[in-house]
Amino acid sequence: MTTAPSTYRVPLPETLIGLLGKRVIDLPAAELDGGLLHEDVSAAYDRVRAESPEAQILVRRCRDLLNDPDGDGFAVLEVGPLLDHYGLDDGQKAATIVLSWLGRPLRVFDKWPLWKPLGTNLAIDPMRATGSGYNPLHIDVVNTTEPPDYSALLCVRPDPRGKGHSLVSQLRRAVNRLSEGERASLAEEVFHDGAFYDLTGVGREYDPFPVLDGRPAFAGFVRFTAKMLPGMDLNDPHTSAVRALERELIAEQKKFFLGFGDLIVVNQHLCVHGREALGERQEEVPEAQRRLLWQMFLRTAGAEA
Ligand SMILES: [Fe+2]
Repeated sequence: MTTAPSTYRVPLPETLIGLLGKRVIDLPAAELDGGLLHEDVSAAYDRVRAESPEAQILVRRCRDLLNDPDGDGFAVLEVGPLLDHYGLDDGQKAATIVLSWLGRPLRVFDKWPLWKPLGTNLAIDPMRATGSGYNPLHIDVVNTTEPPDYSALLCVRPDPRGKGHSLVSQLRRAVNRLSEGERASLAEEVFHDGAFYDLTGVGREYDPFPVLDGRPAFAGFVRFTAKMLPGMDLNDPHTSAVRALERELIAEQKKFFLGFGDLIVVNQHLCVHGREALGERQEEVPEAQRRLLWQMFLRTAGAEA
C-alpha cells in the first residue's frame, strides 16, 4: 500500500486545523444556489482564508500542483485531522471550506447532496464509481459542454482489503505522444458515453462529442473515458485512436493508495483518474465496512472564461 508521493501531498498545518475547528460551528452551512455554493456562504468561507497566512500558503501550493501546465494536475490534501477532531459532519464542512478556496463547490447531480457518497456496491457493474472492479481512466461528466474543472474525492474509509488504488495520468502529454492521424480522429465529433439527466452546472449534453475539442488546455478538455471502449466498433479507426490514447495514459499513469482523510483533487483539464479493483472477497466484508469515498466538484473562475 503506497500512498501518494510527498511531492503531491499537501498536509494541513496544526494551526490551520485549529482555526478551522474554531470557526466551523459558526460559519453558515454549505447552502447551494443553482448547484453552486451560495455566494454569501462562499464569501464567509473565504474570510477564513483571508485571515490565515497558512491557508494562503496552502492554496498557493495546491494551485501550483493543479494548474502547472507541465505538472501532473492533481494534489492530495491531508484532511484526516479535520474528520478525526471534529467528526464526520463538521469535518466534512471544514473540508468544504478548504475546497472552496480552490474553486466554487458544485453539485452536479441534482439527486445527491453536495458531497456524493461513493460506497461499494457489489450488485452493480464493477467498473462504475461505486463498483468493486477496475474503474478505467476517465474524466468525470465527460458528455457535457462544460465538465467540472476539478473533481475531488475524499477517502472516508479505505478498502479494508488494502486494494482499490487510485490511478491518475496527465492527458496533455499523452495526447502529444500520439500521431497526427490519431489526433485528427480524436478531434471528430463521433464519441458517445452514457446518458445525461438531472445534471446542473455542466452546460448542455454533448453527444456525440470530440475527444479533442481544439481549445487551449485550461479552457477546453480532453474528453477521454476508457469506459466508452467496450461499446465501440473494433474496425473503426476512431476506436484505434482511443485505444492508442489509453495506452499512452496507462504507460505513464501514477498509482497510489488513498488513506483515511486523503482528499485527491484532480484538474480535469489536465488529468484523468481511475481506480484499480478492490481486494478480493468483498462479499465477506460487511457493507458498512467497505470502501467509502465522498465526491465533490469545483468550478474555477479561470476556466469559465
Ligand atoms: Fe471519476
